[in-house]
Amino acid sequence: MSILLTNIKQLLQVRNDAPEFLAGKEMQNLPILENAWVWLEDEEIKDFGTMGNLPKINATQTIDCTGRVVLPSWVDSHTHLVFAGTREQEFVDRINGLSYQEIAERGGGILNSAKRLQEASEESLYEQSAKRLEELIKLGTGAIEIKSGYGLTTEAEMKMLKVAKKLEKNYPVTVKTTFLGAHAVPETYKENKAGYMDLIINDMLPKIAKKGLADFVDIFCEKGYFSIEDTERLLAAAKEYNLIPKIHVNQFNAIGGIPIAVKYNALSVDHLEVITDEDIEALRDSRTMPVALPTCSFFISIPYSNGRKIIDAGLPLALASDLNPGTTPSGNMNFVVATACIKMRLTPEEAINAATVNGAYAMGVSDTHGSITKGKKANLIITNKVSSYNYLPYAFGSNLVDKVILNGKLV
Ligand code: NIG
Ligand code: FE
Repeated sequence: MSILLTNIKQLLQVRNDAPEFLAGKEMQNLPILENAWVWLEDEEIKDFGTMGNLPKINATQTIDCTGRVVLPSWVDSHTHLVFAGTREQEFVDRINGLSYQEIAERGGGILNSAKRLQEASEESLYEQSAKRLEELIKLGTGAIEIKSGYGLTTEAEMKMLKVAKKLEKNYPVTVKTTFLGAHAVPETYKENKAGYMDLIINDMLPKIAKKGLADFVDIFCEKGYFSIEDTERLLAAAKEYNLIPKIHVNQFNAIGGIPIAVKYNALSVDHLEVITDEDIEALRDSRTMPVALPTCSFFISIPYSNGRKIIDAGLPLALASDLNPGTTPSGNMNFVVATACIKMRLTPEEAINAATVNGAYAMGVSDTHGSITKGKKANLIITNKVSSYNYLPYAFGSNLVDKVILNGKLV
């Protein structure tokens, strides 16, 4: 099976030697071929070039991309795609004046989702999640990280991760899984957070690791959730199981989680709606990717991460959706990229780099995803006819994804 795309108006993110990630000023550079072709064979990108130098290629299928932009599929390195039920009542409560924290204090928030998830059968959870994943594939997501964290019991956390693994098996999208048992303290441990940490460390972690259900470990390091002491304890324990940290940190308060994440070689630190100069210094010269989630800020009306400050400090930045029932009920990466441009003042080049190359780094798939590079996965988005790639974030409410190719096959 081979597909040849011809007459591509702009082929984005073309890299002969794909960098692991891009930082600071490098993020401004988005390499492009105008009037280009790209040849996909089996599951991989075989070759590419400009139409003036198109060799004779015997492809099974040729797609004329006149007037269209072609780019690598989005890499969404932070989602909670597996969840049960929805929380639109909390959305209405917020419109009527309650804050995210106030809703959580009244038993809403993560605990609301945990209750529904514990009650849902694995089959129903799979059905609900598969529907969401299908929508995202059509919107151009080709690799996705999925967290647990709405189970909050050993059994329910494992149920979530099993569903994520089953999605990976049944869909052409690349999936990585993250164990987020430390997402909130469940009702039963309300007065005994240390007991819940013991359960996570002595029961959940070993069982999940033994079954190979998670690639990464996460914790919601935040006032009212888990402290920096809890964070350090978890990351130290997870190290024994080779679970790499990717943590929720600095969403509402900067309590010192970033330096600890860096100390434990976290692959990413995510949210960062608040960030201090000390945090920026801790990230400098580290291999930890800062990840911004602008559509979470959009939906719950909290400040946007200062991506400008992060990039201008010479650091890398990735963008992800944070799809979840509470703070971001959308996994549309096109909207994430647009929101980053509109609200965080990232240029289209920076935002596209952040959602492809840097997203791939933030979920450990940079060898195979994130750029048009020979030998990488044949995962592409073909857009509608557009005037230029700048039109993609500009026309933020339109769905401009015409076709999607994953693993070398049209979806
Ligand atoms: O990434 N901040 C923590 N976790 C999720 C939201 C969880 C929820 O409200 O269900 C987030 O925004
Ligand atoms: Fe999240």
